[in-house]
Amino acid sequence: MTEKTSVAVLYGGRSTEHEVSVHSAQTVCRLLRQSGKYDVTEIFIDRRGYWFLQKQCGPLSPDDRPVTPVISSKGSLLLPEEGVFLKPEIYFPVLHGTNGEDGTMQGLLETLDVAYVGCGVTASAMAMDKEVAKVAAWKKGIPVLPYKKISRGESYDKASLENWAAQTGYPLFVKPVRLGSSVGVTKVKSVSQLHRAIEFALRFDTDALIEQGVESPREVFCALLGEGTTLRSSLCGELKTPCGEFFDYQAKYITEGGCETRVPADLPPQMQQEIRQYSEVIFKALRCSGLARVDFLIGKDGKLWFSEINTIPGLSETSLYPQLFEASGLSYSQVLDELISLARHTWKSRRSLSVERAG
Ligand SMILES: Nc1ncnc2c1ncn2[C@@H]1O[C@H](COP(=O)(O)OP(=O)(O)O)[C@@H](O)[C@H]1O
Ligand SMILES: [Mg+2]
Repeated sequence: MTEKTSVAVLYGGRSTEHEVSVHSAQTVCRLLRQSGKYDVTEIFIDRRGYWFLQKQCGPLSPDDRPVTPVISSKGSLLLPEEGVFLKPEIYFPVLHGTNGEDGTMQGLLETLDVAYVGCGVTASAMAMDKEVAKVAAWKKGIPVLPYKKISRGESYDKASLENWAAQTGYPLFVKPVRLGSSVGVTKVKSVSQLHRAIEFALRFDTDALIEQGVESPREVFCALLGEGTTLRSSLCGELKTPCGEFFDYQAKYITEGGCETRVPADLPPQMQQEIRQYSEVIFKALRCSGLARVDFLIGKDGKLWFSEINTIPGLSETSLYPQLFEASGLSYSQVLDELISLARHTWKSRRSLSVERAG
């Protein structure tokens, strides 16, 4: 009998997407356990950033014991307040948004010198930043929507922004630069809403983007798995329209049957090919590895725009990422196996790098 691989799944987190993460992790933990190949350790991170061992992935309960990640002479360990330490081989951050998907957790895991699933520090941080991702896409010749950026604490010329907005045309979308799940996003239909929307976005992030809006767009998604020569893109999926004013938090998670998806998307083969190719180009340009989902908007005129990339996309069983690969012939369990095997491989190759100067 082959030995089981020990995997620590991290979820919750200091993020506006805390609940979404727990929901994603419930599926990931269940599938890992069901496969019989993994010893799963469930680690809940609360909104303060404190870690707890859980018996079953879910909201925090009084039985959950505090646990601390430590670097020791025995290697990196998880140290419970009582009981014996744990030494998982692989860490699987199923954390969305701030302090999880943005490179900070990846930095901690690098410092602990452990193998972990998904993108590294640089890729996570670059992909999380909607402006950095847009510039990277634009440099590769992928169409992006025009935008302005406003930063917290910096005064801006209201008249010139209003002029730009009038020339660009409404609706505009105002959003935090580094967030997800549509938190802090406003569809701005007229100048009277513009400045309030900026203030709102700046509650969640130090920078806000004001982006040209696409009127009643089709929203199309492509999932990626692998790295380098093993990278593969999925078939595309799309939202079934109409989906309210836009794909907001309510439509994503709260409204029952809020916004249905169609997988595969109803697209001409050539456009699907273009989207898959763009997705792979962006993934590589941002130095991603493991997984990501790339999102596009298509206007009524048929024009395609890169929208954003998510390096830890929704991973619940009804999420797009697993559905997109399922439609492409890869079961969710196979996807998880591949992610874990990639994590091990990436860690080994990182470890083979010299930290000694030659000579
Ligand atoms: N420029 C835009 N034009 C039309 N709709 C947009 C635009 N930007 C965002 N949206 C809508 O807002 C949603 C959330 O915006 P997005 O940029 O994807 O942020 P998040 O990272 O929070 O998902 C999108 O799914 C889409 O419905
Ligand atoms: Mg989005």
